[in-house]
Amino acid sequence: MAVTIKDIARLANVSVTTVSRVINNKPEGVSEETRQKILKLVKELGYQPNAIARGLVTKKTKTIGLIIPDISNPFFPDIARGVEDSAHIYGYNVFLCNTDDNLEKESEYIRALKEKYVDGIIFTSSVPSDYQHIMELVRDGVPIVMMDRRMESEEIYGVFIDNYEGGYLATKHLIDLGHRKIGCITGPLKVKNARERLEGYKRALLDNGIEVDERLIFEGDYKINSGIIGTEKLLNDNKDITAIFACNDLMAYGAYKTIRSYGYKIPDDISVVGFDDILLSQIMEPQLTTIRQPAYDMGLTAARMLIKLIEGKKVSKKIIIFKPQLVIRQSTASVDEGVF
Ligand code: RIB
Repeated sequence: MAVTIKDIARLANVSVTTVSRVINNKPEGVSEETRQKILKLVKELGYQPNAIARGLVTKKTKTIGLIIPDISNPFFPDIARGVEDSAHIYGYNVFLCNTDDNLEKESEYIRALKEKYVDGIIFTSSVPSDYQHIMELVRDGVPIVMMDRRMESEEIYGVFIDNYEGGYLATKHLIDLGHRKIGCITGPLKVKNARERLEGYKRALLDNGIEVDERLIFEGDYKINSGIIGTEKLLNDNKDITAIFACNDLMAYGAYKTIRSYGYKIPDDISVVGFDDILLSQIMEPQLTTIRQPAYDMGLTAARMLIKLIEGKKVSKKIIIFKPQLVIRQSTASVDEGVF
């Protein structure tokens, strides 16, 4: 029985896509060791590529996968809109996968997308510290672009924002208004961008001669409820707090709820800053001062980068980092104006 491409893939312990890339002389993302192993097996087993099978494996499906961690957070639909608009321009469809920040679901979706032979995947990984499942795809030669939540790997293409600068800008804005007792409700610290925003908060305090007080820091999870309970803890533990930096807008909305339930006013008694600048922040009362992430443009850029990788075109920059922007609205005021 003739040797098939699946036999080669199984023996080389790689995907069929990888074998196809090597025998079609498109080994981008395939290590030299893997490439040599495949070519040795092809020679030793006398494999003859079946023209039809080859067409099936290398045929582009003109689809890309987009994996996001929380579809209920308006930040991610903004990203998805940018990805879809960009993909549409280049004639690609998008499979949207929501993982609910669950690593198991993320791995399931990766398997599903491979089975559908998507041409590439854009990832906002829920657990970027444990990303072997993503590195396998990279080694298999599947075009990958990471977005928003960065992983430490030279092999990764990605589109991110400068989260450290965003945390610094938010905190510096409050310090410039005279605040010294500034609470911080972080995102989940397993996620790198949450740690970077917290580091920016700490650095802004230290650069202005303010000690970092751990009692003013509460680890949230980017969801509204953690903003509610985090603000309760901050207000219970720090009677002299005058401002809160919530590391995303949804947690800032939670802070609004608790601040009011304690009988305080925003910003008269307590100023609040968020992060993301999702649409709701312009509608909130008072409108939220926040750090803008150009989510739509990040999605647009990530899709363009991925499609260039899929089509074997040159990608000028492996990592693109957007600048955050402080958007001052009505939820922050000088501490002198407050009656708190
Ligand atoms: O609001 C959700 C948060 O998670 C955003 O700040 C975004 O950066 C994502 O990582």
